[in-house]
Amino acid sequence: MTTPILDVHQLRTWYPVRRGLLGRGAAWLRAVDDVTFTVMRGETLAIVGESGCGKSTLGRTILRFVEPTEGNVWLDGHRITEMSRVELRRLRRHMQVVFQDPASSLSPRMRVRDIIAEPLVNFGLAGDRAAVDARVADLLCQVGLPRSAAERYPHEFSGGQRQRIAIARALAPEPDLIICDEAVSALDTSSKAQIVNLLSDLQQRLGLALLFISHDLAVVEHIADRVAVMYLGKIVEIGERAALFEQPAHPYTRALLSAVLDPSPARRHARIMLRGEVPSPIDPPSGCRFRTRCPYAFDRCAAEEPELRERPNGQSAACHLDALPALS
Ligand SMILES: Nc1ncnc2c1ncn2[C@@H]1O[C@H](COP(=O)(O)OP(=O)(O)OP(=O)(O)O)[C@@H](O)[C@H]1O
Ligand SMILES: [Mg+2]
Repeated sequence: MTTPILDVHQLRTWYPVRRGLLGRGAAWLRAVDDVTFTVMRGETLAIVGESGCGKSTLGRTILRFVEPTEGNVWLDGHRITEMSRVELRRLRRHMQVVFQDPASSLSPRMRVRDIIAEPLVNFGLAGDRAAVDARVADLLCQVGLPRSAAERYPHEFSGGQRQRIAIARALAPEPDLIICDEAVSALDTSSKAQIVNLLSDLQQRLGLALLFISHDLAVVEHIADRVAVMYLGKIVEIGERAALFEQPAHPYTRALLSAVLDPSPARRHARIMLRGEVPSPIDPPSGCRFRTRCPYAFDRCAAEEPELRERPNGQSAACHLDALPALS
């Protein structure tokens, strides 16, 4: 059996928060609450869910930009959650990140050449100047930018081009895994499609694994091998893209999909509306967290938290129902 490149086990990230007008009384905001999944080499796992469900916190905890409250993360068998800062810095080479907003993640005063060369220098992978220049030119080519881009500054490029620069920088240390946090969300439709295609190509060519965090289901359907759906800090459904999109097993997945514009004919009937607001992650509902908005909730849902269970289609869903009611 092969080791997964990323193994996340019972991960919790709770933020300490104050509540009440006078800020008395501490409480925990359960941003990520008992999350377990793996990503295999060369695979793309998408993490989807509404704003505030904990996607970015999950990504940031895996990178250890945020410390986990509980649980473990392994990258290629190395336990990230136990590492010292020094060990972590060395390991970061194998796990890179691309954020939503390249304007804030690319230093405006650095030339593109130096931006892309920075990880090479930091990880001790740089040779002499000529070797670095050659590597930068190669990386620019891989992301579809001209060699001449090296001498320019980030503000001279469009949003889509800047995201190509961020991707070139992420590729520089030859990582095994790239975490993309809403990497295409700020782009216009045509740049979005181009960057998604670029990521798919690179992934196939280089055997990269992607953890693709996005609230955009149309993009996810295009790029993901598997999909994990998060609601209030938990994964409520995880499985192969096709199974999950064609036959969601969790009422929340069904609702999310039904909200996507222009669904395929096979899914067009599957319209259900979510009622109410997302509850606070400081005080989540008892039992199933989705029950307050679920059209199919019954007594057991308030009393007992559903575990992720495997379904006939292969995906796993955390719902007490064995099958969702047919839609009329
Ligand atoms: N540093 C922090 N301190 C306290 N609470 C935080 C912090 N960062 C995020 N949160 C809270 O944690 C929860 C999850 O936030 P997170 O940013 O991970 O969600 P998200 O799924 O990435 O949302 P979006 O789709 O808007 O990017 C939210 O309730 C958010 O308000
Ligand atoms: Mg986010």
